[in-house]
Amino acid sequence: MEVIRTQVAIVGAGPAGLMLAHLLQRSGIDAVVLEARSRQYVEQRVRAGVLEHPTVQLLCDTGVGDRLQREGLQHRGICLRFDRVDHHLDFVALTGRSITVYGQQEVVKDLIAARLAAGGPILFDVGNVRLSGLDTDEPVIAFTGRDGVERVVRPAVVAGCDGFHGVCRPQVPGGYLQAFEREYPFAWLGILAKAAPVQAEVTYAYSDRGFALASMRSPEISRLYLQVGPDETLDAWPDGRIWEELNARLALDQGFALNEGPVLERSITAMRSFVVEPMRYGRLFLAGDAAHIVPPTGAKGMNLAVADVAVLAEALERYFATGATDLLDGYSERCLRRVWRAEHFSWWMTSMLHLTPGADAFERRLQLSQLRYVTSSEAAAISLAENYVGLPYGA
Ligand code: APR
Ligand code: PHB
Repeated sequence: MEVIRTQVAIVGAGPAGLMLAHLLQRSGIDAVVLEARSRQYVEQRVRAGVLEHPTVQLLCDTGVGDRLQREGLQHRGICLRFDRVDHHLDFVALTGRSITVYGQQEVVKDLIAARLAAGGPILFDVGNVRLSGLDTDEPVIAFTGRDGVERVVRPAVVAGCDGFHGVCRPQVPGGYLQAFEREYPFAWLGILAKAAPVQAEVTYAYSDRGFALASMRSPEISRLYLQVGPDETLDAWPDGRIWEELNARLALDQGFALNEGPVLERSITAMRSFVVEPMRYGRLFLAGDAAHIVPPTGAKGMNLAVADVAVLAEALERYFATGATDLLDGYSERCLRRVWRAEHFSWWMTSMLHLTPGADAFERRLQLSQLRYVTSSEAAAISLAENYVGLPYGA
């Protein structure tokens, strides 16, 4: 049996796994990335697209920000649309920082290109990934390669970057991890459309018909979302109904109509908050969606994944350079501080903007009051803004 020896085995080539591989590569640490899907699949998978300031800075500082700086859309802030009026939040004025709209799969493409250019391996299309010995000094990962051949990786450390449905977290013995969870009684239907966005900034709309979000990927491509029921399917949403509902929820007193165009991609995503503690078991370190999920309303998912692996890379650098385990031992606690801040912010944005089935007039009045407060009080606006643009690492 072929045995691959490496310092770090990374399971999953999403933003977490790829960014970790990139940071380790820069520090001269050897890593192998195992990915269940094909390169084409992970590069085409449409996900969220707002990068926080610290994420942009890290990508640029580590040499993978060129295309992001050329093609990413730098925005001063966002718009909250309610009472059929736009309320602009200018993050640059409020915090001195901006956000960048750049699709997650574009970050993934840039990171894959950087890794392959540096000669680092990514094994795509692997199957039957099995972990053992995580609580020993010699963890082992067995898998079937794309060629159907069984192989084994023997790393010093395993990074579980395999997302919410991955194999790493379930390997931890029952009772060791504590899980915290909220499910929301709604989902998001998202479309990517070949249609020029009409609004200049990402616009979150609160309406009696439910939540809608108008975002973009480029001056020609719109990314749009609708709150739908948790069990709804795409069959119930022909294109005409999607556009009609988006226009109704995004309506303005002064008049409003989206540019419509061919729908390039569509999907429905459940909304969930989820955290496990600790984010480590023995030699296994969980990062990104493998350890936590946020509802997308705060645009935090990818940013948290990047923040986790920035902490993990630093800890691994110290460990492999000196043998000291202090940063690895502090990994989970350090990440969880940021994770819980983002969990709160995402839950709060979600609660403020969605129509909860069965919500009474009291709840609706509270939501409106909160929306008016964050768009009229500078103190409240700064609080939203500093969370949205991303608190500095280590805050
Ligand atoms: N073996 C190998 N790879 C696996 C396995 C497995 N058993 N199971 C899952 N994977 C891969 C998935 O195919 C995926 O490419 O792990 C990767 C996990 O990537 P993401 O789900 O993108 O998770 P993460 O890197 O943590 O990024 C979080 O992604 O889901 C969004 O909104 C979320 O923006 C956030 C970001
Ligand atoms: C997106 O552009 O896909 C997007 C923007 C803001 C969000 C979520 C998704 O909160």
